[in-house]
Amino acid sequence: MIPPSQGADGGTVAPLPEMVEVSTPEGARLAAQTVDARQRHARKLLEVRDLSTRFFTPGGVVHAVDEVNLELDYGETLGLVGESGSGKSVTALSIARLVAEPPGRIVGGEVIFDGIDVLGLSNEEMRLLRGRRIGFVFQDPMTSLNPTMPVGRQIAESARAHLGLSRRAAAARAADLLATVGIPRPKDRLGDYPHQFSGGMRQRVMIAIALACQPMLLIADEPTTALDVTVQAQIMELLRSLSREFRTAIILITHDLGIAAGMCQRVSVMYAGRIVETGLVDDIFERPRMPYTRALLDSRPRVDLEPGGRLPTIEGFPPDLVDPDPACRFAPRCAHRREVCLEREPGMTPRPSHGEGHAARCWATEPGGWIP
Ligand SMILES: Nc1ncnc2c1ncn2[C@@H]1O[C@H](COP(=O)(O)OP(=O)(O)OP(=O)(O)O)[C@@H](O)[C@H]1O
Ligand code: SF4
Ligand SMILES: [Mg+2]
Repeated sequence: MIPPSQGADGGTVAPLPEMVEVSTPEGARLAAQTVDARQRHARKLLEVRDLSTRFFTPGGVVHAVDEVNLELDYGETLGLVGESGSGKSVTALSIARLVAEPPGRIVGGEVIFDGIDVLGLSNEEMRLLRGRRIGFVFQDPMTSLNPTMPVGRQIAESARAHLGLSRRAAAARAADLLATVGIPRPKDRLGDYPHQFSGGMRQRVMIAIALACQPMLLIADEPTTALDVTVQAQIMELLRSLSREFRTAIILITHDLGIAAGMCQRVSVMYAGRIVETGLVDDIFERPRMPYTRALLDSRPRVDLEPGGRLPTIEGFPPDLVDPDPACRFAPRCAHRREVCLEREPGMTPRPSHGEGHAARCWATEPGGWIP
């Protein structure tokens, strides 16, 4: 295990600047940028500013991610929550520069990772940065695991490509990683193919591949969708222990605020391509400042519902993201809307009286608004 180092916030982080491959010009440039950036100003692991990603389709331009802002401390776990189609995956893919182009394109904003300007990197530098620093657990493991290659080889190849390990060392690392993610008899399973694992185990294998290079940031996109509740809880416990043990920062994407609450220090809520509320988990739960967040909270699965009792859902549908109106995007579904909501879109404004770092996008909860 690589020893921990001092992070920019004074805490410890597992991955090290010297882990950047310096045997290539791109690696050397990246390493120099990292050290330089840390010495200068990198206080956050990730700063996403006004990030916008669009899809240029025959049906029009889809504003999938619209001026999104996010921040992540070293070692922190952030929840990115919202309904289907709200732009969570495209935000994550944009941060890692994995949006398929065409039809997609990042059209504006900045992504600063560990002090490095990600959108300014060459493709080769970006490949290195992803391999060494950013692990990605994709929404559907079967589309991202190679069905024709044993899982041990898939993990080992990642470790060999990015850490330059020998074949034997990479195989040993693959077995270690399978053990870390809780696969029983890991050495015996190295030669098995993805279809020989259950859904929950495939998610664990995905996490093992993402961890092969000891990333500073793990992006987990709905890592437990389609898994039963017990397996879901096990995967979440695994992520929690990884974050504790290696101080890996995590962006956890989920449509379930309950899952985010159990895992994250802070949550950002997305709706129709926009961040509409952000804050500490407790503040978001106890004092939401945006009716959409309240609706998400009310539509959470609950154990105390009477048998046969109906789960509340949010009525209506999210708006079309092709040329959205300059109004509040939640207005058509919002019980609190007034004229102004249809005329102008509210900005994200700080709500300091409702918690540290709390901000929301809603006219009704602005000072002088109609929701106290
Ligand atoms: N390749 C693509 N071409 C056109 N539009 C796309 C493409 N990929 C995503 N989109 C659109 O971008 C928007 C955001 O999609 P995204 O996949 O980020 O949603 P999501 O929040 O991750 O939803 P889910 O919870 O269902 O995974 C959606 O309107 C989607 O239709
Ligand atoms: S701005 Fe208006 S329509 Fe939008 S969420 Fe607030 S009250 Fe509802
Ligand atoms: Mg998604």
